[in-house]
Amino acid sequence: MSKFMEWVDARFPATKMWEDHLSKYYAPKNFNFFYFFGSLALLVLVNQIVTGIWLTMSFEPSAEGAFASVEYIMRDVEYGWILRYLHSTGASAFFVVVYLHMFRGLLYGSYQKPRELVWIFGMLIYLVLMAEAFMGYLLPWGQMSYWGAQVIISLFGAIPVIGDDLTQWIRGDYLISGITLNRFFALHVIALPIVLLGLVVLHILALHEVGSNNPDGVDIKKFKDENGVPLDGIAFHPYYTVKDIVGVVVFLFVFCFVVFFFPEMGGYFLEKPNFEAANPFKTPEHIAPVWYFTPFYAILRAVPDKLLGVIAMGAAIAVLFVLPWLDRSPVKSMRYKGWMSKVWLLVFCISFVILGVLGVLAPTPGRTLLSQVCTFLYFAYFILMPFYTRMEKTKPVPERVTG
Ligand code: HEM
Repeated sequence: MSKFMEWVDARFPATKMWEDHLSKYYAPKNFNFFYFFGSLALLVLVNQIVTGIWLTMSFEPSAEGAFASVEYIMRDVEYGWILRYLHSTGASAFFVVVYLHMFRGLLYGSYQKPRELVWIFGMLIYLVLMAEAFMGYLLPWGQMSYWGAQVIISLFGAIPVIGDDLTQWIRGDYLISGITLNRFFALHVIALPIVLLGLVVLHILALHEVGSNNPDGVDIKKFKDENGVPLDGIAFHPYYTVKDIVGVVVFLFVFCFVVFFFPEMGGYFLEKPNFEAANPFKTPEHIAPVWYFTPFYAILRAVPDKLLGVIAMGAAIAVLFVLPWLDRSPVKSMRYKGWMSKVWLLVFCISFVILGVLGVLAPTPGRTLLSQVCTFLYFAYFILMPFYTRMEKTKPVPERVTG
């Protein structure tokens, strides 16, 4: 075996890569619960790719055949039902995991210097993930697939001058049709997954270049032993590979429970109108996107003007990109930040959840007002950040991790 590895290593840096990224990658020894979600995101990514490949074998990307082929997968293809539920539940699980992963970033200031690029690559992943989920949702060609896509694509029509041409260009037709379905299929199964995989590689390379942050937000590279190993670091393999298995097992318990017992999740993972084939002549009574998009949908609806609504929705995502430059705090972790940062993070999270709930519900004057208040608080968290992070009194940060 060692002779074989010598042969390989003389031609390809296999051992070097193993050491650089696993056996000699020293991660802080105080990782907690929130550090499970990076590896879980990788697990869900693999699940989506594998189940997606098998679904593609029996799916028919045409307006005439798509809906029936999904029914065929569910009823006739051997284990087709489990492949489909693993994929549809996987989509929601992806966003649960990624939202918690991003929340960890906010909690411990993982986006701060020197990890700005880790964060930016993460945000690009998030954008591509949203596009991937949106396009995947059109494929089963159900009522919600059709009308959801209709609502979202028509938003581009609000852009002055080029709006109408742009919507037509995206659809490839005068209305959503088999042509739209075909191109969404191509993007969903090939183009976006390639981009996503590339971005994940860049995300991890950027992280390993600077090293992981930790719940204390202290730099473990400051104190090293005589071999140059950080005193507060432990080798990623075997220590964190084994620890991550615990996260994987717990995650799989919950995930499988949903897959086997609640794959529709009361209409939140698979919406009820999507069990009916797309009908361009019949608009569903109430159109709502899948739960992971609803906070942004609520922001869109909170603004009375369509164009301004689209701008607000875009800005709600764009502002996250510049987060590393909005936070002026001298400390990274929420453990040592002042009370204002803590209160604002709480306000932000509560607003985000309320917006998510409001985005599912049909609008009423009261709900619109509440969504306007929450939209205001959502943006206030970011816009006021340069001020409250500088003004507040922070706690002294320990030199070494506190365990
Ligand atoms: C497919 C989606 C994603 C995958 C597979 C992924 C994977 C990972 C992995 C394996 C790690 C190292 C382990 C860990 O710290 O948990 C990590 C760290 C990180 N990720 Fe992601 N990630 C994804 C999406 C995102 C997104 C959307 C963001 C934010 C916008 C993000 C921001 C970060 C940050 C800031 C770190 C460093 C955390 C620290 O050191 O404290 N990631 N990611």
